[in-house]
Amino acid sequence: MDVPLADKPWGGVFDQTTDRRVEKFTESVSFDRRLYAHDIRASIAHAHMLSKVGVITDDERHQIITGLELIGREIAAGDFAFREDLEDVHMNIERSLVDRIGDVGRKLHTGRSRNDQVSNDLRLWVRDQIDAISALLIEVQRSFVGRADGDAGVILPGYTHLQRAQPVLAVHYWLAYCEKLDRDLDRLADCRGRVNQLALGTAALAGTSIPIDRHMVAEELEFDGILANSLDSSSDRDFVLEFAFCLSLIAIHLSGWAEEWILWSTTEFSFLRIPQAYCTGSSIMPQKINPDVLELIRGKTARVVGNLTSLLVLVKGLPLAYNRDLQEDKERLFDSVDTVAACLELASAVVVGAELNREAIAAQLDRGYLDATTLMEHLIMQGVPQRTAHEIIGRLVASAMKRGVPLVELPLDEFQSAHSSLDRTVYDVLGARRAIEAFTSYGSTNPEQVEHQLNIWRERLSDTTEPPLAI
Ligand code: ARG
Repeated sequence: MDVPLADKPWGGVFDQTTDRRVEKFTESVSFDRRLYAHDIRASIAHAHMLSKVGVITDDERHQIITGLELIGREIAAGDFAFREDLEDVHMNIERSLVDRIGDVGRKLHTGRSRNDQVSNDLRLWVRDQIDAISALLIEVQRSFVGRADGDAGVILPGYTHLQRAQPVLAVHYWLAYCEKLDRDLDRLADCRGRVNQLALGTAALAGTSIPIDRHMVAEELEFDGILANSLDSSSDRDFVLEFAFCLSLIAIHLSGWAEEWILWSTTEFSFLRIPQAYCTGSSIMPQKINPDVLELIRGKTARVVGNLTSLLVLVKGLPLAYNRDLQEDKERLFDSVDTVAACLELASAVVVGAELNREAIAAQLDRGYLDATTLMEHLIMQGVPQRTAHEIIGRLVASAMKRGVPLVELPLDEFQSAHSSLDRTVYDVLGARRAIEAFTSYGSTNPEQVEHQLNIWRERLSDTTEPPLAI
């Protein structure tokens, strides 16, 4: 079954109609309609420019812009009938403009092509999403920092290889996530600079002989710069891949945190209670309260990373310049943005609502010889070489393990016979709390260090109050 060509903006050269299956196969309006507001904004800037350079009259510009604004309002209200046979959002809007204002509407596409148009729309859209995701990241940081007063003084076991390693202040843990998310913010800001470059006006691939003014369009659309090579800019999707990578790393950071808190909320750990509002139950086991939100934050990371992989493979081996393959970028990109935004929003809520189980944490804190390294460092400071001190303390730990006691419960003579420099002062560094106090290095979990970092974070987070943009 075929479709008549009369309606195709590219139909002139064709004498065969389009197979219906091809129409379904090639359309993108079912998902790229999401770009409508950015498409209209860029078209308005383009129309301003066309009139300034004298390609259209002031009156034509006025008609075009009024028409575009009307279309924008209709789409926003849900009153616009998108047509699959018009392929994409760009041609739907343009056709609707022509239907409203006649031949003047047919002038809008002067000096541009859908190749630069779609890239430019996508850049505008990604720019907004970077701002929205950044605001959500800052919210999660605020949520972690907001826990500081309530969790002040709580010491948790720190792990390496998921084995107990050294004691760490709970607040130090929270600030660790703030740092990770901060690098994500930094990456987004850096990526934004490369996203925020004007592609419009490079036309199909080679530029245009119409005397357009790209600088004027860049200024109106608040771009930081103008892409300099038409072949490159009409086909470049680096900015999509980069953003998809930034989103993947955010998802991976959240996934690690989610895994940690899932573990901490188990009966075995009992460090943490996750609010029931963010859990669900089992239809067969009446006692179950499962941390599904955290599990899904961890699970949804798979699709975000999968989307990045799809995008990388999509552009692999594409010759210059535009190829229709590129239409496949949008669903992957949209999905990553939606997924990460939802994860960040719920992460904030869980971070705010979770409660540390102080008693259970304290009751288990003396297990695992969290203070052994600090004791070794104490011996090093008496002049014993590190390798020797390591061995000596290792033997003391083995002896304590045999007796089933923490190091602090070993008698003084045992320390003294292990090494003559080990005197009563060992008790100054034994036990998780003393070990914490013994740390001195910048960035360590020493309470003063943590307080210092916390103040820096509080200060930083107090001045950005931008609400998240709607996605
Ligand atoms: N819908 C297309 C896309 O998303 C727009 C560009 C199509 N260009 C073309 N010459 N067919 O990539």
